[in-house]
Amino acid sequence: ESGTPLAGRSVLVTAGGTREPLDPVRFLGNRSSGKQGAALAAAAARSGARVRLIAANVAAEVIAELPGTVTVEHVETTAELQAAAEAAQPDSDVVIMCAAVSDYRPAEVAAHKMKKEGDAGLRLELVQNPDILAGLVRTRAPGQLIVGFAAETGSPDAGIEQLARAKLLRKGCDLLVLNDVSAGQAFGTESNSVILYARSGDTVTEVARASGTKAEVSQKVISGLVSVLDR
Ligand code: C5P
Repeated sequence: ESGTPLAGRSVLVTAGGTREPLDPVRFLGNRSSGKQGAALAAAAARSGARVRLIAANVAAEVIAELPGTVTVEHVETTAELQAAAEAAQPDSDVVIMCAAVSDYRPAEVAAHKMKKEGDAGLRLELVQNPDILAGLVRTRAPGQLIVGFAAETGSPDAGIEQLARAKLLRKGCDLLVLNDVSAGQAFGTESNSVILYARSGDTVTEVARASGTKAEVSQKVISGLVSVLDR
């Protein structure tokens, strides 16, 4: 049926941003609201998919707007997101890793609230988190479509499109959604502007560009994804 191109498929979406506790009351986190991931989950559901959303610190108002058919699992840390994503992977035809995952976490979590220690400043030791997306690419069954996200600001020696293409090849997923976050766009806002890339072997091609509300952008990303699934 043309209106429900994802009928019979299951889609896993991660949304929001992980938080890494420092002590019982503090965390390291990021500005992701989860609105883009929630909009993708809604668009996938409207396209007929069974949808599971793993929500990392997504506000209740954002969750409340989801279609009732979307199953939601709440997580806080990267470790929890990883466990939830790995558990859901075998039942998913498509995995969309939209969540902003902390690259690092405190080496130790204090059992009691950390105290101010005078004027000397405070040094935190951080350890690297696993790359969940890269792990899912390694453990996936043939035919599973994995979509990564890249929030880029560019760097002195590379434009964002070049960074996105390189990231898609490095991560080994099938599709990558590039978000330009240089002008304060995307994180926490209502609208977004993205480019969707697909990888086939060592070749990266641009599939679509979309700007607008997160719902509009999601619809285009899902259409692009469907065109790749049907190839
Ligand atoms: O390398 P970078 O963090 O830019 O990659 C972003 C993509 O990788 C996103 O899809 C994000 O969900 C995923 N990611 C992950 N685990 C991490 C860091 C990022 O799955 N530790």
